[in-house]
Amino acid sequence: MKTYRVAVIPGDGIGTEVTPAAIRVLEAAGARFDLRFEWESFPWGSAHYFEHGRMMPVDALDRLRGFDAIFFGAVGDPRLQDNVTLNGLLLPIRRGFDQYACVRPAVLYPGVRGPLADRKPGEIDFVVVRENTEGEYAQIGGALHTGGSHEVAVQSAVFTRHGTERVIRFAFELARRRGGKRLLTSVTKSNAQGFSMGFWDRVFADLAREYPDIRTESLLVDAACMDLVRRPQDFDVIVASNLFGDILTDLSAAITGSLGLAPSANLNPAKTFPSMFEPVHGSAPDIAGRGIANPMAAMFAGAMMLDFLGEPAAANLTDRAVRRVLADQIDLTPDLGGRGTTESATLRVLEVLGL
Ligand code: NAD
Ligand code: IPM
Ligand code: MN
Repeated sequence: MKTYRVAVIPGDGIGTEVTPAAIRVLEAAGARFDLRFEWESFPWGSAHYFEHGRMMPVDALDRLRGFDAIFFGAVGDPRLQDNVTLNGLLLPIRRGFDQYACVRPAVLYPGVRGPLADRKPGEIDFVVVRENTEGEYAQIGGALHTGGSHEVAVQSAVFTRHGTERVIRFAFELARRRGGKRLLTSVTKSNAQGFSMGFWDRVFADLAREYPDIRTESLLVDAACMDLVRRPQDFDVIVASNLFGDILTDLSAAITGSLGLAPSANLNPAKTFPSMFEPVHGSAPDIAGRGIANPMAAMFAGAMMLDFLGEPAAANLTDRAVRRVLADQIDLTPDLGGRGTTESATLRVLEVLGL
């Protein structure tokens, strides 16, 4: 029997609702393959901040370092500034553990009605690879004369050759591994931001020569938004900077039916530190505490975790169980037009898994 040690950070809002639901499903799927999990839960987040003045302890990364993976819920509380909560918990983990490739699949599943007319299930199936450690999220900047009439704010974006090259290379390799359309789309804004994005375009063009079997295209981010709505079926793998990848993946979640279905894997491909798996969505204060959050994004993220841990069969089983419940269209949560709850949707998935 194989055992995986997983650090769990449910966080805030619906993070605390969808995480336990996904863990039940992972337990059930794992049991079918003789896998065991040792889940260790860390009560970090906004409640921790109100009690201790910090989102997580000073030695948090040291405590997480030895785990096989991190399973994350969501963070964010309307009573606190988002840059305090996010820069106090989620972003330092992504950066500190060098989880440079953020992988976010977007699939229109059978049983799900997307908002785009004429797009049938199966037609939308692409992955966004988002740079996850630098770019526009590099914490470099400062403020002067705060609150005064001459107030100044500077926030710098940082693009290194090391950081840009490795994430684009990861995306090329993924396009090859997927063996689908074998198309990699790079999204930038080099018409306005010539230094950073022009640099990115150059690195992309250089690397493209090493992957003659992968077709490439470069889009400006505004045009990419339009094309994701107009012709989402054409995409295969998309690679983008930290901020653009963030924005594009809320859009890709929306065109595939719900943010409640979109998973995210923050990967350290070299495995020098644990990788982290989470839903794309946030703490959803508007529905938190009502038991109606869709747990499926967290479940799909769990499947990605199993895959990365080297358990593709268990990953596949989890993935297929959730897809099956979507296709059956019974007990789905309100974001998918259903009348179900987090609990009823979870019970359906467990039932498919034979529990
Ligand atoms: P959000 O993703 O929390 O919610 C956006 C909308 O989608 C809301 O209407 C919400 O009800 C709905 N939604 C999201 N997940 C859902 C699910 N699983 N089931 C059903 N409906 C779902 O984004 P927001 O409202 O912009 O942000 C809320 C807070 O979360 C903010 O503090 C923000 O900074 C934070 N946030 C955190 C993360 C994260 O932890 N990774 C991601 C995004 C936002
Ligand atoms: C996400 C989130 C975070 C991000 C926020 C909450 C900092 O939106 O994971 O998509 O922008 O990375
Ligand atoms: Mn986001």
